[in-house]
Amino acid sequence: MKKKKSIAILTGGGDCPGTNAVIRAVAKKAILEFGMEVIGIEDGFEGLIHRRWRKLKYGDVSGILTLGGTILGTSNKADPYRYSVGKGKKPRFRDVSKIVIANIKKLDVESLVCIGGDGTLFLANKFHKDGVPIVAVPKTIDNDLRGTDVTFGFDTAVSIAAEAIDRVHTTAQSHHRVMIVEVMGRTAGWIALYAGIAAGGDIILIPEIPYDIKSVARKVRQRHKIGKRFSIVVISEGAKPKGGKVVVQKIVKDSPEQVRLGGISFVLGHQIEQVTGVETRQVVLGHLQRGGSPTPTDRVLSTRLGTKAVELIKTRQFGYMAAVKGDNIVAVSLEKVAKGPRNVPAGHLLIVTARSVGTCFGD
Ligand code: F6P
Repeated sequence: MKKKKSIAILTGGGDCPGTNAVIRAVAKKAILEFGMEVIGIEDGFEGLIHRRWRKLKYGDVSGILTLGGTILGTSNKADPYRYSVGKGKKPRFRDVSKIVIANIKKLDVESLVCIGGDGTLFLANKFHKDGVPIVAVPKTIDNDLRGTDVTFGFDTAVSIAAEAIDRVHTTAQSHHRVMIVEVMGRTAGWIALYAGIAAGGDIILIPEIPYDIKSVARKVRQRHKIGKRFSIVVISEGAKPKGGKVVVQKIVKDSPEQVRLGGISFVLGHQIEQVTGVETRQVVLGHLQRGGSPTPTDRVLSTRLGTKAVELIKTRQFGYMAAVKGDNIVAVSLEKVAKGPRNVPAGHLLIVTARSVGTCFGD
């Protein structure tokens, strides 16, 4: 009997709402339209190093459309080209990429579907160059991937952040305080920009525009003058003062991207109180933005991207990622995606729009 064609799926990097919806879309289309066998790799590239995978049957991917996280597990530490071995303060690194390639060969799959953000897709591109047939789907709440207008997970993160900002509004108003909401976004300010505009933030601070405390204080004072005795600040975790540095929360030594940010809102809160005398509080949203059920927009996007990934396999467009361009889902080469993060351009239309309704960007 002829062996069924099969594909494998892995999810790498930070978890992100909509990941299960992509797994479902890929697996259902592969099973229903092409009678393929689907293998789920556990914990991203970690599973390909340690041979941890399982067959995904139709029943395994049914009922997961709205589920947060990833049923396959994930890791933002496993870089097979520089894999951390041994525990302790000084991790040692080994290149285990050949083990991964050999394991994929043994799996005998037509293609590996990599669902991931910048780190995972950088690796996906490397493995593709090393001869592995890969297609990819862009996943990150940060929305900072090149080659696509938007990533799945972003809309959910913005909704959660906007709701949180709405909620601190009442405290700010009642107590006549400055309330700062710190959102994720290591190098790109997309979440702060969108959530800040959506929830009427008075001051939006993003990594792309280093802030001047004098400008922030001026805005707070101006608002006081017109009877608005409170202000709402939305700040990306990767924002920094002019001439200053980002706030590092911890170093994860065995991770390819070792720096974890967090806490800039405390630095800013202190500065605002010192310069303006207005009482200030801060909230760090952190991983709340990555958890829970995806929004309907993300569910639709995940389904479109996942089904496109299967089309890429059928048309043998390996080394390509399913991406959003306007109203369409298109194929973009991983080479382009791997060129580094996509930042908010200085003159972005949304910055211009926000400025025109009085939003301060701290510059
Ligand atoms: O890339 C997504 C992201 O959520 C960043 O915004 C954040 O800096 C990072 O992941 C946090 O990673 P971890 O889950 O390791 O804390």
